[in-house]
Amino acid sequence: MVRTASVFDQTPVFAPERLPVARPHMPSADAILPYLERIDASRQYSNFGPLVSELEGRLSERLGGAAVVTTSSGTSALTLALLALQLPKGAMCALPSWTFVASAHAVLAAGLTPYFVDIDPLTAMLDPRGCERQLKDAPAQVRAIVPVCAHGAPIDCDAWAQFQERTGIAVVVDAAAAHDAIQAAPFLQAVSLHATKSLGAGEGGYVVCPDTEVAVRVRMLSSFGFHGSREARLVAINAKMSEYAAAVALAGMDHWASTRLLYQQAAFKLRIGLKDIDSIRFQEGWGLRWISSVCVVRVPEATLSRLIAHLASHQIDSRQWWGEGCHASSAFENVLKAPLPHTSHLAETTLGLPFATSLTDAQISHLTGCLKAFFASA
Ligand SMILES: Cc1ncc(COP(=O)(O)O)c(C=O)c1O
Repeated sequence: MVRTASVFDQTPVFAPERLPVARPHMPSADAILPYLERIDASRQYSNFGPLVSELEGRLSERLGGAAVVTTSSGTSALTLALLALQLPKGAMCALPSWTFVASAHAVLAAGLTPYFVDIDPLTAMLDPRGCERQLKDAPAQVRAIVPVCAHGAPIDCDAWAQFQERTGIAVVVDAAAAHDAIQAAPFLQAVSLHATKSLGAGEGGYVVCPDTEVAVRVRMLSSFGFHGSREARLVAINAKMSEYAAAVALAGMDHWASTRLLYQQAAFKLRIGLKDIDSIRFQEGWGLRWISSVCVVRVPEATLSRLIAHLASHQIDSRQWWGEGCHASSAFENVLKAPLPHTSHLAETTLGLPFATSLTDAQISHLTGCLKAFFASA
């Protein structure tokens, strides 16, 4: 609580501090220090140094030995994964409009032609069967598709593997927020290690590859096209992760089990606080089977703007993380799209509520009390 004064009588009153929509959970300086000392000793700062190698090894171990390549960001991870498909320039790549703009930027940066398709209204993600139907009406042959793990939710890996097998369309998953939920699969997947994600490096990312041959290509694409010599064998970029970012991510991994528990604990408390409000629906399995650093809920139609205003009037921030969908951004106004009725409906009924491992019981009861009052009167 902060002390403020009323404008009229100057009597100090108590007002709640603003409740932010998210607050990153990152390792402390103490936890990072031993890794920084290793950088001082090795004097290797980038170019796949010992800390990046250790991080890739530990990420791979979590995924049963899948080949992992670290990158400078989640956006570069997705761009490299798409480049690694080696599709002809301008080949069509379907993706949901219901995603963060980085997904569409990555498709364009990889030299592909994006095509926005609609999501399943229940999961807020692409559904392989629904996509097959939508892609029949695409303006050109679709060569790749980017399912997005909405706010960290798992995709149906088996169904997407079958889709890839059945259609010949390459699947590349934008698993930016899905470090927790991701599993090895027979397709490329890109994860973000941005500070706002459940495992953060500040900026960073990684690509999970279906085999080592693809991993070698991703690594070359991230490093000037080099492979064992200074000859550029592929047209490529520099998207390598530095040893400093790896230090932060390794410290985060050391504490991953407790971080995960803290996210679960905060999610349980929020679920319990809101259990009597039928109007609020959490993502399936959120905080139970998988964790995320954000809380995104569905609310009834025609309540969203009033709810946002109600929360704001009680010093509570909320966010429409993906706005109206990517197709509404001016950068993508020329991108072709399928009919997007479910995306539009989701945009009108989806809201990010404050969520963090640092949420106190008082903050949770302030938030849940406000939501209860709103839905009781709505
Ligand atoms: C769905 C999605 N894709 C891609 C990204 C980009 O990740 P980064 O910020 O690490 O580049 C994000 C980041 O929030 C995201 O939410």
